Amino acid sequence: MHYLLADDGCEPFLLDELKRAHPSAASEADGPQWITTDAPLEAPLVFARQALPNAARTEAASINAWADKLIAAVMESLPEGQPWRLQIVPCYGDDNKAGLNRRDLIMASLRERLQKRRRSLLRTLEAADVETPFTEQTSMVQLYLMAPDQGILSVAPAPMPYQLRRNLWPFPKGELLIAVDKTAPSRAFAKLVEAEQRLGLLITNGETMVDLGASPGSWSYVGINRGARVTSVDRSPLRDDLMRHRRLAFVQGDAFKFVPEIPVDWLVCDVIAAPERNMGLLMDWVRNGHCRRFIVTIKFKGHAEYAILDELKEVMPGLCSEFYLTRLCANKNEACAFGVVK
Ligand SMILES: C[S@@+](CC[C@H](N)C(=O)[O-])C[C@H]1O[C@@H](n2cnc3c(N)ncnc32)[C@H](O)[C@@H]1O
Repeated sequence: MHYLLADDGCEPFLLDELKRAHPSAASEADGPQWITTDAPLEAPLVFARQALPNAARTEAASINAWADKLIAAVMESLPEGQPWRLQIVPCYGDDNKAGLNRRDLIMASLRERLQKRRRSLLRTLEAADVETPFTEQTSMVQLYLMAPDQGILSVAPAPMPYQLRRNLWPFPKGELLIAVDKTAPSRAFAKLVEAEQRLGLLITNGETMVDLGASPGSWSYVGINRGARVTSVDRSPLRDDLMRHRRLAFVQGDAFKFVPEIPVDWLVCDVIAAPERNMGLLMDWVRNGHCRRFIVTIKFKGHAEYAILDELKEVMPGLCSEFYLTRLCANKNEACAFGVVK
């Protein structure tokens, strides 16, 4: 059985999403934000914040008992000699303070025990703050502490984390919070930076980028700061300094009519429009080979239209070597599609 952590308030949407994709799977709520399912987790689930594959509720009476439990699970299932990560995530108490302390003590006890009993496992345990994308060699162990003596334990031996990377993120709780940048034209810059980091690819020096629906210019600002050459399309101008920038060309007009003269490295699009329009634009750009990579927001009014995203899930994997579809931490009532075209 797998556990999925839903975005706050999104449990019903995640259950709907699972039922549409896997009608015969057993998917049900198991407490606030948690869903259990036996559905496969390879394809993106928009409303899952984090996946805990092969997970079960479990108990341990003390810090050392938790460490022993983790070591037993690791020795039983993880491949020898390959990197593994361990996340202990406290989910109880008002400020998690006691839980964070307990996490550190369990981690210290585990390290001490491995040092005595199984040094090879200690050598391959990656540092707790490593959050780079999984490779096919990485294993992932997650313990979500629901109370000092209760938790949900998930052991995902390699290559499972890599195979499930569209739902299993290298960040605790799947959360990736981007530091505020006060010099950006608006807070929307966080969406682009979060999507890049989840994809594991940053816009880089010398690349070309088209930014559709660009005003006031936070996404273009990110591209410019990374050294890209940016074409920004909007009905309204961007912030003055961006409009004057020598690596930025502004095109005033309709984003849905813009066609690049030559293919670009990045399509980024944050146009406010009906979801089917942004989805159609993305599929057209990808099918026509206009971009190598993309980050596109799909915006919703209310909650009734989420099933429309199923079309992207069907079409895009065949066109892309990487395709993600998720609700970013920085998204409001939006989903974000990002990936790499084949
Ligand atoms: C959410 S804002 C974009 C914010 C931008 N990503 C940023 O970081 O500053 C959406 C933009 O889409 C633009 N827009 C909406 N429909 C458009 C269309 N058909 N063509 C061009 N721009 C459009 C709006 O003018 C608005 O500036």
